[in-house]
Order: sequence, then C-alpha cells, then structure tokens
Amino acid sequence: MNTINVGILGLGTVGAGVLTILRQPHPDLAGLNFRVTRAAVRHVTAAREQKYPEIALTTEPQSIVTDPHIQVVVEVMGGVESTWPLLKTALTQGKHVITANKDLIAQHGDELSTIARAHSVALFYEAAVMGGVPILHTLTHTYANDRIHRLVGIANGTSNFILSQMHQAGRTYQEALTLAQQKGFAEADPINDVAGIDAAYKLTILARVAFGVHPSAQDINCQGIAGLSPTDFTAATHWYQVIKPLIVADQQQGSLALTVSPFAISQNHPLSRIDNENNGIVINSVNFQEMLLAGPGAGALPTAGSVIADLATVGHAIQAQRVPVFAPLIAVGPSLLPPEAYRAQRFLAWQGSTLPDTLPVIDRQISANGIIYALTQSVSVAEVRLWQEKYPTQLLRQFPVLSD
Ligand SMILES: NC(=O)c1ccc[n+]([C@@H]2O[C@H](COP(=O)([O-])OP(=O)(O)OC[C@H]3O[C@@H](n4cnc5c(N)ncnc54)[C@H](OP(=O)(O)O)[C@@H]3O)[C@@H](O)[C@H]2O)c1
Repeated sequence: MNTINVGILGLGTVGAGVLTILRQPHPDLAGLNFRVTRAAVRHVTAAREQKYPEIALTTEPQSIVTDPHIQVVVEVMGGVESTWPLLKTALTQGKHVITANKDLIAQHGDELSTIARAHSVALFYEAAVMGGVPILHTLTHTYANDRIHRLVGIANGTSNFILSQMHQAGRTYQEALTLAQQKGFAEADPINDVAGIDAAYKLTILARVAFGVHPSAQDINCQGIAGLSPTDFTAATHWYQVIKPLIVADQQQGSLALTVSPFAISQNHPLSRIDNENNGIVINSVNFQEMLLAGPGAGALPTAGSVIADLATVGHAIQAQRVPVFAPLIAVGPSLLPPEAYRAQRFLAWQGSTLPDTLPVIDRQISANGIIYALTQSVSVAEVRLWQEKYPTQLLRQFPVLSD
C-alpha cells in the first residue's frame, strides 16, 4: 500500500497533538499509511529533533508546501498573513490542505476553496470551528438533505469560562478573566476572545457552510462580554435566565441575521448547561428538529482529533483515487439582514431611580446595589443605538434575549 506523505506547518499545541495521535496504534490510520516526513517550526532545537527523529524539521514552511513528495499539508501554525500565501501555494501545487486556522478560513476561505476546487484537492478545516466538536462534518453529511433554520452556539471557550465563573462563583469580570488566564484558557491579550472576534470568525464559517452566505465582519452584530457584572447574573435568575456568550444565525424578515453577543437565555435551553471552557451548538432544522452537539472547543487532543478526522477523510479519498469534496449545504444562500435591523427582546441594566416611559419595558426589578434591571419588548438594534445615544450614562448594559 502506498505511503501518504504529510508535511506539518507548526508543532505547537495542536501540531504536537496531531503527532501524538498519529503515533498511537489505530486500525483505520494504520491502513492509510500516513508518514509525516517534514515539519516547520520557528525554532529547531536539539530536544525537538530528539523527540521527532523521523521528521525533518525546518524553519522554512515554504520548503514544505513546494516539496513534490508531500501530498497533504496540515497547517497548525496560525496567523493569516504568513499562512495565506503558503496554503495558496500548497493547493496550487496539487496538495490537499487541512487547517485549524479559523482566522484564515473566515477571511480567505472562499478564495482558498476556489483554488482547491480548481486543482481537485481538498481544503478541510473541521478543527477551525469549535475545536473537538464535529460540527462541520455533521452539517455537510448529516444535514445534507435537511433544511436548517437556526444555529445557536457557544463557540468561544474563553468567554464561556468567564461568564460561567461570574454566574456560578460570583466572580467579577476581571477576576474571572484572570482565572481563565491562569488556567491557560485565555491569552495574555484576550481581546479576540472577549470582544467576540474569534466567535465572529466561527460564525462566518458556519454561516457559509450551513446557509451558503458569505458574510464580512460588517454583516455581523458583534458585542463582547467585557463589563458584565455579577449582579447581571443574579438579575437574570429572577427571570429564570442565564447569560451565555452566543453565536446566532437565524432568519428574520426573510433574511439571515448573524449575531455574536452575550444573550440572556432560558434556564431550560440546552446551552444553559454548557459551562466553562466547553462549546456547544443547537441546530434547528426541518427533519432533525432540534439537536445539540457539545464538547471541548479547544485543547491539544480534541483539536488534533478533528485534524486527524479530516486527514483520514483525505487519506481514504487518496486511496480510492477520488477527489475529497467539502460542499456547503446550499450553493446560493439568502440575503443577509442589515445588522441594525436585527430585532430581539433586550435585557438591560439601568443606573437611576426610574426608567423613561419611552422604553418598551415589559418587566423590571431593582437589584441589591440599586441598579434597575428590565426586560423590553422586541426592538431593533437601530432603536437600541438611539437609547445609547440618548442615555449614555444611565444605560449601563444591554444585550439580547434569545427567543424560543
Ligand atoms: N490550541 C487550540 O486549542 C486550538 C483550537 C482550535 C484551533 N486552533 C488553531 O490551531 C492553530 C495552531 O494553534 P496552536 O495553539 O497549536 O498554536 P501554537 O501552540 O502557538 O503553535 C504554533 C506552532 O507554529 C509554529 N510557527 C508559527 N509561526 C511559524 C512560522 N512563521 N514558521 C514556522 N513555524 C511557525 C510555532 O513554532 P515554535 O514552536 O518554534 O514557536 C509552533 O510550533 C491556530 O490557527 C489556532 O487558532 C488552536
């Protein structure tokens, strides 16, 4: 049986996890005869060379993507500016590409997919969305003959960890963030995670695969979690709600609305029980109705496991002399709702002794520290922006409530 030569770009958390799994005996993988011949890192050290004696290490990733003996390139080094040209070269040279790089796929996935199709090679990226949760495979295989009308997910483990700690242990935002950093769930500069940027990349990829749309950052209502207070969680409990960092793709007014935000959700919602660094997604569709997928959204082995699943798919296709295809469910999707038109009930925290009569409030309570919490009727983002302009000091926080 022919060997399949693999080159890996990056031997950090995920890259080392990939090699760990490939070294374990496994009947399916053994049958595929993968051989990792080369790997690119920034630092080639003696310790690394001893750890991977069978792999030629290089600091020149370009030499791997142009190596005529390599059939599959696994990109787990991260970054966009450096990896984009590398993967274009790999695909153009007829190599299958597997990547865990959400930033790259969100920003350049369409172009890279076009190149992959033109050269009859695979571009797979299961690990780029929710790490170890097999959402892309499930969407493209299990849902191939179904019609999805809504996706609601927790796709950023850092934000979920922070909000879970604020809810369950009463920590402040800063305390919860510091704990996340101590445990390795948040980076020293957490902006991508807490501002919703990472989640927006994942929503971009999911919306493309599930709904056939091609959103840019301007198409997504994106609100981060910084500034939430532990009293927000107590107030939410009064309405049998919890606050979760969600990505939501749902249909409104005949268009698709894309939102990344903390949301107040019912305590009965399946995602209310997905805590700490875990990820989860609820898919609503015609045939399967409601399905929850949940699991580790990051980490060496879960993420590497998704890379390996893609690698096995590619390996089987190479053996069968087929082109491995990754097809979105819908070729041409619906229009995208302008972000300011998105409508939802709002959960708001108000500094002051009374709420203005102009706010369409349906229920209110006063917290122990004198903040008024209120639930409003469904309003558009444009209306909320007017409130923010009119009441810049009184309107402390507001975010949407997830509808049933
Ligand atoms: N970590 C996770 O749980 C997770 C989950 C889902 C997706 N991802 C994605 O997976 C990718 C890798 O993440 P990671 O956590 O494994 O990153 P990491 O631990 O920082 O590893 C990056 C690796 O790439 C190498 N590298 C970086 N730039 C390079 C360059 N210009 N030339 C050669 N080698 C280079 C580094 O070499 P040195 O070791 O020599 O510095 C390192 O081995 C990212 O796109 C990330 O978003 C990660």
